[in-house]
This record gives sequence, C-alpha cells and structure tokens, in this order.
Amino acid sequence: MAPQQSNQTKPLQQMHHIPHHLCRVCRCITAAITLATLATIPAMAWHGSIAITTPNTQLLLHADEGGDLLMDYYGPKAATHTELRDAGSALATAALPAFGTVDMVQLPALQVQHPDGDLNLSLYVDEVTTERHLTTITMRDRLQPVSVRLCYKTYPDVDVIETWTEIENGHKRPITLKRYDSGHLALRQGDVWLTHLHGNWAAEAEPTTEPLTRGLKTIRNTDGARNAHLDAPEVMLSLDGRPQENSGRVIGAALCWSGNYELRVNTIARREHHFYAGIDPQSTEYVLEPRRTFATPHLAMVFSTEGMGGVSRAFHRWARTCGQLHRGMRVGDILLNSWEGLYFDINEERMMRMMDDIAGMGGELFVMDDGWFGDKYPRQNDSTSLGDWVVDKRKLPGGIKALTDGARDRGIKFGIWVEPEAVNTRSELFERHPEWVLQARGRDLKLGRGGSQLVLDMTNPKVQDFAFGIVDDLLTRYPEIAYIKWDANASIQNFGSTYLPRDRQQNLYVDYHLGLIKVMQRIREKYPDVVIQDCASGGGRANYGLLPYFDEFWVSDNTDALQRVYIQWGTSYFFPANAMAAHINHCPYWNTGGRTTPIKFRCDVAMSGRLGIELQPKDMTDEERRQCATCFEDYKQLRHTVQTGDLYRLISPYDRKGVAALMYVGQATTAGEAVLFIYKIDNYYDQPIPRFCLAGLNPDATYTLTEKNVRTGQQPCSLSGKCFTGRFLMEVGIEVPLWEDYASRVFHLRCK
Ligand code: DGJ
Repeated sequence: MAPQQSNQTKPLQQMHHIPHHLCRVCRCITAAITLATLATIPAMAWHGSIAITTPNTQLLLHADEGGDLLMDYYGPKAATHTELRDAGSALATAALPAFGTVDMVQLPALQVQHPDGDLNLSLYVDEVTTERHLTTITMRDRLQPVSVRLCYKTYPDVDVIETWTEIENGHKRPITLKRYDSGHLALRQGDVWLTHLHGNWAAEAEPTTEPLTRGLKTIRNTDGARNAHLDAPEVMLSLDGRPQENSGRVIGAALCWSGNYELRVNTIARREHHFYAGIDPQSTEYVLEPRRTFATPHLAMVFSTEGMGGVSRAFHRWARTCGQLHRGMRVGDILLNSWEGLYFDINEERMMRMMDDIAGMGGELFVMDDGWFGDKYPRQNDSTSLGDWVVDKRKLPGGIKALTDGARDRGIKFGIWVEPEAVNTRSELFERHPEWVLQARGRDLKLGRGGSQLVLDMTNPKVQDFAFGIVDDLLTRYPEIAYIKWDANASIQNFGSTYLPRDRQQNLYVDYHLGLIKVMQRIREKYPDVVIQDCASGGGRANYGLLPYFDEFWVSDNTDALQRVYIQWGTSYFFPANAMAAHINHCPYWNTGGRTTPIKFRCDVAMSGRLGIELQPKDMTDEERRQCATCFEDYKQLRHTVQTGDLYRLISPYDRKGVAALMYVGQATTAGEAVLFIYKIDNYYDQPIPRFCLAGLNPDATYTLTEKNVRTGQQPCSLSGKCFTGRFLMEVGIEVPLWEDYASRVFHLRCK
C-alpha cells in the first residue's frame, strides 16, 4: 500500500476489522473503535508471526490481522510462538509503542506531529520482508501518510540483533518527530537489575548497578558533541537478580550514536519492564522534510545466558567481526604519545629524541600530540590556534616531512594529533569564518577550553569539507602518516547554526552528528588504512556511533595505572581490547595526588589493552626503561591473544577483594593460548589473597604457564613453566605470589 494523503473530509469507510487490545491495567479486552481506525482500516493488512534469530537467541513478534505489531519474546532459542501462547507467556505487547495507540499506559517509543497538528500514530503492519539477515516490517498509519519501517538485522555468527526505525514522511509538508526511539524491548517484570557506565572526565566508565523498581529510570546525555563521559549509551539488564559475571541471563544494549541520547526503563503495572533507547527528543524534536525518511541510529542488543561476561564477549565479537570497529581483528602498534611527556612544549629536537626513545625500547609508532600548528597564532597553550592546521615552523623547521623521515629512519611509524571540529577565537580560521562556529543568534558566545574554544558547525557542508580537508591534506602531503588522533574537547554550548534555516534550528544536535559521520565516511573511503584514534577529552566518545570509522579510542585522560584498572574494567563491558588504548604513565602521577606505582604494575595494566606509553622517556630511570623494553617484547608475543581474544573478567576491582584479575582466551590464529592478568590493588597486611579460578579454557587440554614481563632483576615465579589441565585451572585454581604493594603478574598459557 502506498502512503496515502490524509483526507479528513472523506466519509468513513466500511469497517473490515476492529483491532482488539488487552487493557494494560485490568487485562480486559478493549476494542479500538476510533474515527481514525474506522476511516482507514486496510482490507489486506499483513498478519502472521516473525522470528528474528541469531545462533543462540531469538526475538519473536506477531501481528493479528489489522492489529498492532506485538513483541512476544526475547531470549534463548528455545521457544516457539505456539509454546509461548500455550504457556500463556507470550508478552504480546506493542513492539514499537506509538503515541496514539489505544494503550496509553505504556510510554511511546514514537510520536510524530503531522502538518495538521495531529499528534497520533496508529500503525498497522502492511508488509514484512526478509532479505538475508535483514527483516523489515513496514507499518503505515491508519489515517495519515506516514510509514514506519522497523528493521532488525542479524549476523550469522554473533548473538547480536540490531534494530532501528525508518520514518517516512509522505506528507507534502514537514512533520515533527517528537519521539523517535531506535528500539523498544519488553521483558517480564522480576528481579531485574540495571547496569550502566557512569563517570566523569578522568574517571570514566564506572559500572553502576541497581535493581529496577516501579516507575521510570532515565539515563540521558545532553553534551551535544560527546556522549560517554558522564553516562554512556549502553546498558545491561540482568534478569536473575544481582548481576553475575559468568552466569545468569543478561540483556546488553548499546545505542550506536555519538550525540544526545535517552535510555529509559519503565516498570509498570505488575507485568513488564519496558526498555527504550533513542536520540534524546527533548533536545531535538526533529523536523522531517516532505517525502524524506529519517533513519534512527541502530540499537544493538545481546541476550546472553553467560552473565555480563557473555554480553561483553558478544559485543566484542560483533565489534571486531561485523564492521562495528574499523580495526576489525587487526591489532594496534605499540606507541609513544607525546602529550603527557611534553604537553604543548614540542619542537623538532624533542620529537626526534622521543622517536629515538620509543624505537630504542622496541616500540613501533610515535604520535605527535597537540602543539604542532599555528602560524599567526602559535599553539603554545589551549587558548589559541585550533583551526589553523599549518605547521608552526618555529617549532618544527623541517615540517612534518622531517618527522616522517625521522620516523622511517628509526624504523617506526609516525602519527599526528588534530581536532577538526573545533576552533579558537584567537585563530586565523575564526577571523576568516566567524559564521562557521555554532552560535546562538544575538547572544554572547560561551567559550570553552582555554577560555576561547568553540565548536564548528558540522551541519554546514562547507565546514564538513574543511574538516575532511584537514585530514585529506595531511595524508596527501605526507602519505607516511600512519595514525591520526582525532580529538574533540568541547561540548555544544552555543545552540544555533547560521547554516540551518531559522525554522530548522532544532535539528542541530542531530544534523551535527550526521554531518560528522559524512566526514568520517569520506575519510574512510579515501583512507581505509590509516589508523584513527577517537579521543574526546579522554573517553568522551567511547560509543558505537563512531567506532565503525575509528580503530580505537582514548579511554581516559587519566593514565594512572591503578585508576586504569577500574576504568578499563568498565570500558570492557562493551568494548574490545583492541579498541582500548592503554598507555604506561609517569610517576608521581599529577592527577591522582602524586600516586607512584611500580613500573611493572604500570606496564602490566597497559598490556591488557592496546599497549602504549605516555610520558617523557628521557626522564625514565634505567629500571623503567628496561622494564618497558621487556614489556614491549613480551607484548608482541601476547597481543594477538589480548587484542582479539575472548575476555573473561575473573575478579572485579569493585568487589574489594584486594586484587583484580582478567584473562583473554585466544581465538582463530591464537586458539589454544590465553593471557592472564593479575593486579594487587589494595595495600593490606594479613589478608588472604584469593585463589584465581580461570575461565574459558578447554577443560581437557593441558596448559603450560609462562610468566611474562617478569620484573627486572627477578626470576619468574614458581608457577612459571608448570603444566595444568584447563579443568584444574578453572575448578581448583592457582595461588599466585603477590607480596609487595601493587604487585602484578602476567601469564601466558599455551596448550601443549
Ligand atoms: C585531550 C586529550 O584527551 C589528550 O590526550 C590530549 O590529546 C589533549 N586533548 C590535547 O590537547
């Protein structure tokens, strides 16, 4: 059925079928006899059952003739529609509750305002198509020419279902999307716990867990440009009470979007919890042009019976094998980043010296961070120059060419920092194009970092060209640049665009990100091989909205190793190790009260992600240098397992047992291998150190343990070289010597 134009003067048509609904409060059957349904109930509405299946899970839906699309079940692949119906346990609740359906107890996932002011939608299923792994359910309003395609995408080898909606405006005038969630899930009410990542700058990704209680729980972000510093757009819902790491049924959900979002869980009327995820509609009631379709960001969902660990492993696999992480299964190089060693104080001689140092320790890549650019306004601190992407010849007389040559001469690669979405008021770019910054007409500019930073208007195609041009110019002129760190250090504080028409200003937050994605797509089309790090004042953009275009993200500006045990732990809930840049810090560490941790501990913590180093090597002691060289050498043997293996979190630092432990079990080329990390994180006396029971191993295989990154001057511990069955390691466990403060151990396990 093609979208129809509304025709309110048309006489009521003959009624073919009156949709019936179960009243949410008393469960009586109500008939939805309304003017709208009487007017346009379709003669041939689709009805039937739909199964969205992954290797181990399924989502079941159905529609009765002329009725709403209903969700019946999400869980293990162990139920049929008939069984659910016979057992009386089909949820039979609106799959995508729209404002204007008869059931107003549920919160809507969708609401549009039609040109005539009508705020309702009453959707019937018109068509269901399945093409390979994509199921599209086309629903049409019974009165107005608006249709909604609800899409579900699956993958052959991963238990992830992606869902999103495509809203088509068939009117001749614009409509307003007042609520446009990507997806909605209903689950039986019970002892369900919500876990999400909460944090702050330099303290990102702390798992926060609470039981769901009656009423509405909302997690939102309104930064505008970044969305993962405070609360991140991913959650887990544990269905069997307090979340367990390796057991219990858990649903994981990640909204693949980098802008403002809203996640809601509504617990209502004795029966269900309803989970909704989408773009935050309060900051953007999106105006959709006539004959245009708005596709929401994807919501990725996982159902696991192996606890939170199972959810994480599914997300990691999906990221690496289904195109959600640009790096895929590739591993990252060991790099030195200049930021915490030099801040803005860079020059050619210091860059060359740092390259000597990283090459000398066995590293593979050097990244020149902030401070290399600006002509009229040299970048001496954070208050000037953003936008002026020309080399500061005073600092770097040989330009970038001298640095890429220098890197090649030392047998390493070269990378560079940029912040393409930003400008300082003290810059030539701002002098030339003040209209390119986001600004609220007639109001004073609110200035960000350095008292002068502003965000460029990524809705404007000229600004998009400019941002693309920064990267394009660098990579065309210096094709040896192997790595780009793309930073974003400002929120959208000035809400207004000189590019968007006055009556489209409310689209800004969304169009900003659509513009940014366009830029990233252009970059990736032309430069698929350059490694790009996604950084936003640390982990402000650790989300799946941007990861398809990036190879990794900078997890946090806090590189203190103890703090990183916690931050990386939370980050690993949703993101794989080869996306997590983890750098060895200097001590005493400025941001954690001058904390000093042993170099071995710092190395061991960084080795559990994509290893790097973030300090001034010339200030390192000989012991630190030697330990880093050992760490780099050993990491090269371990990194495939670490970066592409299956993660098993063993003992959480949040459980206050004095230790934290995790391991990676090799996949594909590293099958039969595993790497175990153990960190002593509390200082105590006479407290029993727990036995470490491993996970994910083959119980019948025999593994040899080899201690790695052994502390300089010490012998490997007594476990090194010993053989154990997987069953022993998992069921009996090992006691690992950890004597001094911040003791740590790394073991390589190899199948005999
Ligand atoms: C913020 C980033 O998180 C840091 O790593 C560094 O790149 C600075 N910006 C540079 O200004």
